[in-house]
Parts: sequence; C-alpha cells; structure tokens
Amino acid sequence: MNDTDINSIVKKEIAIDNYLSETGPDVLREELIKGLTAEQKYISSKYFYDKKGSEIFEEITKLDDYYPTRTEKSILTNNAKSIVKDFRQTTIIELGSGDSSKISIILNSLSNMQLKSATYIPFDVSKTAIEKSISDLTEKFPELKIRGIAADFMNQLNLIPEVKHKVICFFGSTIGNLNPQDAFEFMKKIGDIMNAGDICLLGTDMVKDIKTLENAYNDNSNITAAFNKNILNVVNKHLKTDFNTDLFEHHAFYNTQKSRIEMYLKAKLNMQINSPSLTRKIRLNKNESIHTENSHKFTNENIFEFAQYAGLKIKTVFRDKNGWFSLIQFIK
Ligand code: SAH
Ligand code: TRP
Repeated sequence: MNDTDINSIVKKEIAIDNYLSETGPDVLREELIKGLTAEQKYISSKYFYDKKGSEIFEEITKLDDYYPTRTEKSILTNNAKSIVKDFRQTTIIELGSGDSSKISIILNSLSNMQLKSATYIPFDVSKTAIEKSISDLTEKFPELKIRGIAADFMNQLNLIPEVKHKVICFFGSTIGNLNPQDAFEFMKKIGDIMNAGDICLLGTDMVKDIKTLENAYNDNSNITAAFNKNILNVVNKHLKTDFNTDLFEHHAFYNTQKSRIEMYLKAKLNMQINSPSLTRKIRLNKNESIHTENSHKFTNENIFEFAQYAGLKIKTVFRDKNGWFSLIQFIK
C-alpha cells in the first residue's frame, strides 16, 4: 500500500466550498453597528454560530427542557423508511445543517445502493460545524460523497446546485428564526429552485402551551443563557468591542400575539461600549435590551400558507404523538 492509499483511508479530504468571505468584513461590521445603534438594539442571529456557539447549541439540543430536537428526531426515526422510499441518485442539501445528526437518521435508512449513489451537501454559516459533521459522517458512511458549502442561506441560496432528484432539508424549525416575511420569501425561493421529482423536508415547531415553550428557552442549567450571551463574544471579535457578558441577563418569553419566543440580552447596568475601531459610541441604559432571536411557532394553517406561497404541494405531514412538531414533505 502506498502513502496515498493510506492517506485516503486514514483521512478523506474534507471538501468545503467557502463563500463566507464574499460578504466582506466591512459589510458585517456595518450590519452589526446598525443593529447596535438602533432604537431597539438587535444582533442578527447568524452571529450566534462561531465555534463556541455551535458547540453550546449542540448542548442545548440535548437538554430535557429543549423538546424540539428529540421530538423532530423521533419523527425522523419513525418515518425514515417512508421518507427515503423514493430516493434515487439523490443529492441531499441540508440548510443550516449544524451537527448533521438529523440527516444521519435519514442516511441510516438508505440502502447500500442508495447510499453509494447519493451526495450530501451540508450548507451552513458555521464552517467549523461543517468540518465536524463531514468528519463524523465520513466515518459513519465511508461510501457517501460529501461536499460542504459554507455560506449564508439568506442571500446565497443560488449556491444550491441545479441537479435532478434534489432533497432540500431544513430541519430544526430554523425557518421559525426568520421573520414571517423572510420565511415566506425563503420558501418561495426553495419552490423556485425545485423541479418535479425534487423533495423539500421542512421541520416546524408548533404552537403549544406557554409553559412548555418558555421552559425550552429558559433551561435550568442556563445553557441557553450561555448561548445567548456568547453572541456578544462574537460581536467583540468582529468589532473589537468590550462587551462584558457578565453584565447581561438572558431574557426569553413567549409573545402570544406574534406566536413566537423572543430572546433578548438585558443590561444589568448603564454602560458604554468601547472599541478602537468605532467612530460612534454604543451606550446601553440599565434594563435596556438587545434583541437576539425570535423563534416562531406554527399552526397547520401556516403550513398550508407556506405551500401556497412557495408553489409547492404537501405530500405528507409527519407528526409526533403530541403534535408538538411537524416534518413536512413538500413536492413540486
Ligand atoms: N439543523 C440543526 C441545527 C439548527 S441550529 C438542528 O436541527 O439541530 C441553526 C443552524 O443554522 C446552525 O448550524 C447555524 O450555524 C445555521 N445558520 C444560522 N443562520 C444561518 C445562515 N444565515 N446561513 C446559513 N446557516 C445558518
Ligand atoms: N431553531 C431552533 C429554535 O428556534 C434552534 C434555535 C435557534 C435556538 N436559535 C436559538 C434555540 C436560540 C435556543 C436559543 O428553537
């Protein structure tokens, strides 16, 4: 056996196309400064996911209080056979793929033939998450072709390859983290890039009792709080600011009118944020909050609206026994 053979067995090369730098650092800085100097301050939730953020998110998904991950996984496990029945020469694109543990459930139920002819494309803004999932999946499914795309799904969906037999997965109710208008437009773009024979699998968290919802985002071990606060460390890296996470409180509650969990970081004191590279000062008053995330909860009606807006048909809606979470199979 020569060196090349050994290398290809020991470590298959991790193939990732990185388009993140197409959004230059100035654009990111401007976007952040705009949010931090607005009347209601905000930080876009895509900044949650640096290496540390992606790791803390993985911890969230394992919490007892955080029901969405285990519920969606149970739906996938119970229905995987029926979901993959029609997969042929499939290219599976997963948007916001994170740790790729959900797609593993699907991949596990593919036949050897199906697996050999499939390509998996994890698409995420977190390059480190893609690297980790490629190395995990390569070990579990050595015959699977994998090519990562590190990019922003809000404005780089055109990177999805135009191939036949696409399966576009968007799990985790990440659709709920978009504002409603963006969510509809996002679904329309998905509808536009799909052809007859393609499938979209969308995970949506459903409206349910407030206590269950609020507990999921206020876990006892304060992991969600740590996740929320870490966004300030990410901002510090981009803007060279001196946000001190200890001076903020995690605040998450259900807004019934808007059917969504809202997440904020609330200042414990009056403070001024400094940075050698900022011309404007950022000030926060005690109890002033920075909005960091929304997590919309959906109804059956919303699911029909998505289909209608996207020009897609609903093939099946899979649910758990409580009706807490839905996995929708759309076709063109
Ligand atoms: N699908 C996984 C992870 C959900 S968390 C699950 O269900 O457990 C949301 C994921 O989307 C994270 O991995 C995050 O890095 C990614 N993400 C968030 N905003 C994004 C954006 N604008 N473009 C691409 N990926 C994004
Ligand atoms: N989309 C999931 C949800 O809304 C995961 C998620 C995104 C999340 N941002 C979050 C979970 C912030 C907790 C906190 O639940």
